[in-house]
Amino acid sequence: MRHGAEAGDEMPESRSDGPPSPARTTPRPDGIEVVELAGAERERAVPVLKEGFEGIYRWHAKRTLRTATWVRAASLGGEIVGVSVLERLEPEVGYIYYLSVALAHRREGLGAVLLDDALELFRRENASVAYGAAEDDNAASIALFRSRGFRLVERKELSFRDGGLGACGLRSRMTLVGGEVLLGLRLGPSA
Ligand SMILES: CC(C)(COP(=O)(O)OP(=O)(O)OC[C@H]1O[C@@H](n2cnc3c(N)ncnc32)[C@H](O)[C@@H]1OP(=O)(O)O)[C@@H](O)C(=O)NCCC(=O)NCCS
Repeated sequence: MRHGAEAGDEMPESRSDGPPSPARTTPRPDGIEVVELAGAERERAVPVLKEGFEGIYRWHAKRTLRTATWVRAASLGGEIVGVSVLERLEPEVGYIYYLSVALAHRREGLGAVLLDDALELFRRENASVAYGAAEDDNAASIALFRSRGFRLVERKELSFRDGGLGACGLRSRMTLVGGEVLLGLRLGPSA
């Protein structure tokens, strides 16, 4: 269904040679808890996914919700206001498949809290690299990934297994479509 991200790799930001932004974390907003959703409970995340994605993405996000390795939710007084759908693609590779925050709660730091939570989980699971994807014009998502030190990954890069960030062999399993960019972050004990 999805194809490579060549178009997105051409975006000007990918040409930046500067160092990645230092990793940072956002304090959890008052009353927010991050919880794991398992089994049938995952259906509770559908409304928030619907607010984040349209068309084929929405369909695919709902489908992936049921099969993903982990689904984490930001809960406010029991209401789900944000969700992350996370996959372990390989023992050493964590993939942020979908991240969505309810429209009424955007720009409150919840996307950052969910991304920090995902990175913490990947580190606990001994992953050595994390990837996320976004449409090349999704400024909010790209800025969020960059704020945690992610950088755009070029197709020609040395594989993550050889010390680079190249995701060779994994791109098809990430179901990237044209117009999407791949972002990556090497996870070290101190990264
Ligand atoms: C991307 C998304 C998850 C961000 O969630 P959020 O809770 O609004 O983001 P946060 O408040 O935690 O913002 C964290 C950082 O992300 C960046 N950011 C978030 N929204 C932004 C926007 N609209 N424009 C530019 N930067 C933005 C900023 O760097 C921000 O840090 P700052 O507040 O210190 O400037 C949310 O916009 C969303 O659900 N979008 C629809 C679904 C989607 O595109 N998901 C990502 C692809 S899988």
